[in-house]
Amino acid sequence: MPPPGVNPTFWRLLLDEDLARQTVVDVGTGAGRVALALAPRCRDVVGIDRDPALIADASRRAEVAGLANATFLVADADALPHFRDLTPDVARPDAVAAHMFLSDALIANAAASVPRGGVVVCCGFHVDHWGETGRPSRFAYDEPRMRARLESHGFTVEHLGVDRDVQQFPSLEAALAAAVGLEERWRSDGRWFRYIDFLEHGGRTLTQALVVAKGRRQ
Ligand SMILES: C[S@@+](CC[C@H](N)C(=O)[O-])C[C@H]1O[C@@H](n2cnc3c(N)ncnc32)[C@H](O)[C@@H]1O
Repeated sequence: MPPPGVNPTFWRLLLDEDLARQTVVDVGTGAGRVALALAPRCRDVVGIDRDPALIADASRRAEVAGLANATFLVADADALPHFRDLTPDVARPDAVAAHMFLSDALIANAAASVPRGGVVVCCGFHVDHWGETGRPSRFAYDEPRMRARLESHGFTVEHLGVDRDVQQFPSLEAALAAAVGLEERWRSDGRWFRYIDFLEHGGRTLTQALVVAKGRRQ
């Protein structure tokens, strides 16, 4: 079972690796949800995030859980040249994981970090995510772009898929209720009015779509 809220395909693609002998870097680790669950399964895990409060939280959790092989560092993943030498003990990761964090720099840095045979496993917004709001996330990828990124950095694509969940609502009220927790955020970025417009024109869906990919370095 994946940790709560973690994409099951992403988790399976990671656990398919021989993690017990591996070092994993978890990029955009947040409060360490993925890294803390990986720690008992791998040799070492290093979680990085640019948010110091989240890194402090993840470090505290590792300490409370007695996970001595989990290290958390504040770092901007997009500004680093690679994910090697992040700690004195961890020279080179065997695998790079990123759950709900995607960027071109992530793929480039993963390629510069893992040895031949090493992997990057990542999951983030697909361009169809919340398509009803008329605007894809600026962090979203489609399959051709993700494939091109992986292949141009020397990864063989072992998995590239979209986990899609289209909620269908019986009424306008139900469609609004489903988005109530998103209203404040969507109002601030202009999506809310587009969603309302979609509903007023008879739309009754809300799409969640995540792209999940695994590349193995040649
Ligand atoms: C949606 S959260 C996912 C957190 C975690 N991977 C999880 O699934 O629980 C994305 C995380 O990426 C971090 N992040 C965003 N841009 C970053 C960057 N350039 N370098 C490092 N971390 C970044 C954010 O601070 C946030 O914690």
